[in-house]
Amino acid sequence: MGQKAPYSKLKKLPPKQEEVETIKVLRQVIKTARALAELKGIAKTIPNQAMLINAIVLQEAKDSSEIENIITTQDELYKALTVRNTKISPETKEVVNYRRAIFAGFDIVQKQGFLRVNDIVTIQQILVENTAGIRSTPGTVLKNDKTGEIVYTPPQDKQEIIELLSNFILHFNQKEQDLNPLINLAILHYQFESIHPFYDGNGRTGRILNILYLILNGLIEIPILYLSSYIIQNKPEYYRLLNQTNKTGSWEEWIIFMLKAVESTSVQTIERISLIRNLLEKTLVKVQKESPKIYQKELVELLFEQPYSKIEFVVNRLKVERKAASRYLKELENIEVLKSYKVGRETLYINSELIEILKK
Ligand SMILES: Nc1ncnc2c1ncn2[C@@H]1O[C@H](COP(=O)(O)OP(=O)(O)O)[C@@H](O)[C@H]1O
Ligand SMILES: [Mg+2]
Repeated sequence: MGQKAPYSKLKKLPPKQEEVETIKVLRQVIKTARALAELKGIAKTIPNQAMLINAIVLQEAKDSSEIENIITTQDELYKALTVRNTKISPETKEVVNYRRAIFAGFDIVQKQGFLRVNDIVTIQQILVENTAGIRSTPGTVLKNDKTGEIVYTPPQDKQEIIELLSNFILHFNQKEQDLNPLINLAILHYQFESIHPFYDGNGRTGRILNILYLILNGLIEIPILYLSSYIIQNKPEYYRLLNQTNKTGSWEEWIIFMLKAVESTSVQTIERISLIRNLLEKTLVKVQKESPKIYQKELVELLFEQPYSKIEFVVNRLKVERKAASRYLKELENIEVLKSYKVGRETLYINSELIEILKK
């Protein structure tokens, strides 16, 4: 079989400054920083932050898993989150775990203000639902999906993996540094994937670390910027550049790829937020006008926090009886704000216009 890729010692961070801060990189940093700052500002203007986070985190859980060929549908995903005891596929389960892992990471970062290696292990454990932890048995290699050829061999020795992770986390947490944090984000993501500390879940854990890093550095306040949709669209390039950086040790192209990913997904997220905000406003007006008797701002906001809603959610949120809650949802269906459908004994009410925005 083709050429093997033996392990060549992975270098510790940091790389030399002149290798990563090239003129091309610095130019792109300016564009990326501008888009990201705009996103940060716009996110703050959304009154109900939970609304935004819920919807976007779930979409990212789906996309990031898709990069690893774990495929589910939005419908099945929302069903899994909304209907108790419903049968779900292993893939959907993994995506639900991914969502939990993002929230767990966000929680740690908010409480602690930094991350420990153990926190990374916790996040990965939630994701893969096993306690295997950091690799201790050699044999993990990265292969080309199609040809089976070994493209990269990560460090095999547990002690070495642990040393590389300590070095990684030091640079992850370092705030007062000369290096622009957006450049550092790219370097850190490469480094984490190249250490490949786990048997599985390295790609997804690494992509969760990206958002946590942005939050720790104050570049965004809530977990709503994700690179996975960009990576899906440019997957061969993502792999090619990880590979190329392994082989040649040259950083520029990889860093620019990551910076463009942040820029492009920031722009997309800004658009998505404004679509969501418009739809929210439109819906508030519509319900007020067409169903003034049931109009409550909180009720409408709930339909945005839970695009798949059900009677129980309304009962809990508005502290009303089941009968009233059911009447509200039916009325919202009458005026075509929601569409209902049955799953077993449960009726789900879908905010389908919102779902369309999230799918884009
Ligand atoms: N040549 C490479 N060098 C370093 N990392 C790579 C390389 N090729 C792929 N990767 C990373 O490995 C990830 C896949 O690792 P894996 O542990 O299977 O993650 P997951 O379980 O999330 O699928 C990819 O998403 C990518 O980030
Ligand atoms: Mg995998």
